[in-house]
Amino acid sequence: MYRRFFIALTVLTSYNLSFSQITDPYTPSPVPDRIILSWSDDPATTQSVSWRTDISVGEAWAEISLANSDPTFIFFADTVKATTQVLASNRNVSHYHSVTFKNLLPGTKYAYRVGNGTHYSEWFHFKTAKTEAAPFSFIYFGDAQNFVKALWSRTIREAFMKMPDVDFLLHAGDLINNPREDMEWGEWFYAGGWIYGTKSNIMVPGNHEYYRSGRDRLLSDHWKPSFTLPENGPENLKETTYYIDYQGVRIICLDTQAMLADSKKLKEQKKWLEGLLKNNPQKWTVVTQHHPIYSTAMGRDNPSIRNNFQPLYEKYGVDLVLQGHDHTYGRGYNMEFGKKTKDRGPMYVVSVSGPKMYNLNFEDWVERVASNTQLFQLIHVDGDVLKYEAYTTTGVLYDAFELKKRGNGQNRFTDLTPEGVAEQVEISKIYMERMNPEEIQKYQRRYEEYKARRAKN
Ligand SMILES: [Fe+2]
Repeated sequence: MYRRFFIALTVLTSYNLSFSQITDPYTPSPVPDRIILSWSDDPATTQSVSWRTDISVGEAWAEISLANSDPTFIFFADTVKATTQVLASNRNVSHYHSVTFKNLLPGTKYAYRVGNGTHYSEWFHFKTAKTEAAPFSFIYFGDAQNFVKALWSRTIREAFMKMPDVDFLLHAGDLINNPREDMEWGEWFYAGGWIYGTKSNIMVPGNHEYYRSGRDRLLSDHWKPSFTLPENGPENLKETTYYIDYQGVRIICLDTQAMLADSKKLKEQKKWLEGLLKNNPQKWTVVTQHHPIYSTAMGRDNPSIRNNFQPLYEKYGVDLVLQGHDHTYGRGYNMEFGKKTKDRGPMYVVSVSGPKMYNLNFEDWVERVASNTQLFQLIHVDGDVLKYEAYTTTGVLYDAFELKKRGNGQNRFTDLTPEGVAEQVEISKIYMERMNPEEIQKYQRRYEEYKARRAKN
């Protein structure tokens, strides 16, 4: 059974050939679906929503009202006309609609629905941000990417059940595997369902949101119609490179695939980022990017990204860098082993929330790792304290730390790794079968070296 699963995973992760034989279960209809909240402007006073219908729905709109337990609130809702665009995917032609609600009251719960007069969504609730710094939480997901309906759905649902009061969800790229396969986008929307319509989403593209076209790499045709994201990034990177200030935290989203494909886009992002970091009024700074500054998986490295961005993160005191791509888990910071300090520079995290797994390389920078483990993270910010918790997809606390901001700009680090939760580093049996004896030996040697370093520390 395992072998069959492994073969299926290999086939599906390389190319979803099998999908071409399947009848599309995600055909659009006049009823809104793929409803998702995001921000394209100030989270305290605006909220964007995007959704899909079939092309029979020409004009669409959203209705919004202050949320009220008296259901007659619906008679006092305001209507906002949607902008609509056509997307011809490999499966169907559909309309994607979006609305940005403006002039909202900060820290306030609203109710909204989307539709066209005949067919509507249910009424959803969302809450605007406060204008000033205030405690909040968000969930971070590494790559979902493969078997998104079958095996990522449990991660997002477990995460939401753990923290239903969360303020938003952050997706660090590779939401899907084949950027032009509408069924995969259908799975991603199926997995999150009404959670996306209730909690706002921040996402960066990974390499799997880009496809090859001759010598170029192009952003998935689904990205911009599906999500309504800020256009405050560099000119050619709108809605893939942007920032959002949320209750005392500056969240910066970088498009690392664009950097790797085009050095001009790397330079543009670097210049833009430096401007943002230099003039940053927020107490905390979180960067999210798909390709990691420091890798966790065997045979992976992104020196051009590291060489260009890591110095800026150090110089301007970025607190946390949330990444994906390596299909393993690693958490640590840029300091040689053996050196001990509680004052930390940027904390780097690589994580994976979907089922595709690689082998760990036990790099020098990592202080807590996992392989073959689906994870999600809950991050809480409250004044001078940022608390990070990584949970397995079964809801077990696996890793945790706290950063306390000090007067000198540095963070005091406290390791809160739960006692008695062993590091998950064994190669699973099915992966072992595809490794040759030298690879297994190398893995085991690196693991032993890592354990020895950790013991010394
Ligand atoms: Fe990736």
